[in-house]
Amino acid sequence: MGKRLIENEALIEGLNWRYATKQYDPNRKVSDADWATIEEAISLAPSSFGIQPYKFIVITDPAVREKLKPAAYGQTPITEASHLVAFAYKKTLSDSDIEHFVERIAEVRGTPRATLFDYENTMKGSAKRAVDGGYVETWNSRQAYIPLGFLLYTAALLGIDATPMEGFDPAQFNEILGLTDFSVTALAAVGYRDAPNDWLEPLAKVRKPDNEIIQRV
Ligand SMILES: Cc1cc2nc3c(=O)[nH]c(=O)nc-3n(C[C@H](O)[C@H](O)[C@H](O)COP(=O)(O)O)c2cc1C
Repeated sequence: MGKRLIENEALIEGLNWRYATKQYDPNRKVSDADWATIEEAISLAPSSFGIQPYKFIVITDPAVREKLKPAAYGQTPITEASHLVAFAYKKTLSDSDIEHFVERIAEVRGTPRATLFDYENTMKGSAKRAVDGGYVETWNSRQAYIPLGFLLYTAALLGIDATPMEGFDPAQFNEILGLTDFSVTALAAVGYRDAPNDWLEPLAKVRKPDNEIIQRV
């Protein structure tokens, strides 16, 4: 049985405490230990077959963040939060991507490569269907949102603020970050709220009532 790590009230308290922070304190930085935990949490997110068709670009260089800000319509968390992460999905999936993944399984588990042959072919078939069907970008980009969710959740439980963001121009972000095979689909600013200067901080969280959002069958 899994070990219980947190009580119900503490978990819900953390999720109620978090909000999409609009104003960060530029002088407060996330510690190296907390940042390492956040990076590990996002890399532990599940993905279809485990392929992880994305990468996380951790942007701390102030000059790069200044360049990105106008491409995110001037949103201040881009430059003022402690860290900025771009979630970039892979624009295609080729046989060599699958082979690379299978080699990794063999390496980590010490499994002979040949025993993974059927699994490899299943994955290659799925990847080919997605490419031929024109939905590989949809498939890969959707998966990048799972680590985004892990980041928001992890940060909340560590008492760290985070803002998910889709308000930016992906083409400009890709260009500034030098991406060709990947495309940015979402961002997360991470740091500490500047509570007195954030209009959203004192406002109640708005969610639909249970009976509108949860259907029990
Ligand atoms: C995919 C996604 C994109 C979002 N884009 C932005 C954004 O560009 N800028 C912003 O300030 N908030 C953005 N938000 C934050 C939402 O507005 C916010 O999560 C929502 O209103 C619920 O409020 P809460 O997160 O404070 O509980 C985004 C949230 C998600 C999940």
